[in-house]
Amino acid sequence: MQRRLRYMPQVRNLVQDVRLSAQQLIQPLFVIEGLAEAEDIQGLTGNYRETERSLLERMQSDLDAGISSFLLFGVPAGKKTHAFDGAFTARCIQAIKKRFGSRVFLAVDVCLCSLTTHGHCGILEGDHILNNASVVELANLARIYAEAGADCIAPSDMMDGRIGAIRDILDSCGLDRVLIMSYAAKFHSKFYGPFRLAADSSPRGIGPKDRATYQIDPANMKDALVSACRDEEEGADIIMIKPALPYLDIVRRIADSSLRPLAVYQVSGEYAAIELMGQHGLMDAVGAHREAWTACIRAGSSMIITYGARNWQKILGYV
Ligand code: PBG
Repeated sequence: MQRRLRYMPQVRNLVQDVRLSAQQLIQPLFVIEGLAEAEDIQGLTGNYRETERSLLERMQSDLDAGISSFLLFGVPAGKKTHAFDGAFTARCIQAIKKRFGSRVFLAVDVCLCSLTTHGHCGILEGDHILNNASVVELANLARIYAEAGADCIAPSDMMDGRIGAIRDILDSCGLDRVLIMSYAAKFHSKFYGPFRLAADSSPRGIGPKDRATYQIDPANMKDALVSACRDEEEGADIIMIKPALPYLDIVRRIADSSLRPLAVYQVSGEYAAIELMGQHGLMDAVGAHREAWTACIRAGSSMIITYGARNWQKILGYV
């Protein structure tokens, strides 16, 4: 009789395999150069395109609420095609570290899509995203962000060989304590919609219409497994899988075969889908977020990057 274990809330709690806490959560942050006032992001309730000033205030309130791990996306005003200097994001990293020091764990996304005129994650030549030329730029940005004070570099571009290149450059600059969290199994997903509006990073104008030539095909499991293995060998400290819910089979497979800690990213479209259904009275959004997070940990992830992190007290039922 299975139901004996389900009658009392005390017993239900005692027999849980998965327990969630704020310590498992990473809050994404968007900071936009030249923005006059913080702006809402459609679908991402409680998340904003921040100014340099509002970013620090938001982080203070997150810290006060018990969230101290962050993933920063810097969006500079001037777009280029090559020779990126990362100056805006570096300035924000310095400001964060000056104010909060080691009270925050600061991971910084490293990619080119918010920096390029065309919105692709690498250097464009005709209809081609160049791999090695992109890796040189990415590794240089990683060094700049790490020198500015980032605790962790999170490359999301999906070029080949960038983890090794970033590890080499960090080590050769005496930045050997800086972690690398690799977006190792990043799928070519439709669930990134709200993010691209927030980060100003949709492919546009010239070049391929989408990111199919560098992100992983949703129908290809082996590519994800090989990519995760490869990033591990190249020196990734944490392996990330994204999106989360549609790819939990991949999370479980990698959790069973890798000895590295895993992260999942509950991406913008996943988060927004729950929020929007909640707003239409179609589901209890708070409970649905808790259920989604539970599934991520149950599948084998150690941590979750989620736009709901700063609302953890509500989502985990503490308030
Ligand atoms: C940029 C990047 C993306 C996300 C994180 N880094 C989007 C993309 O590949 O277009 C998605 C995050 C989200 O949807 O929440 N390379």
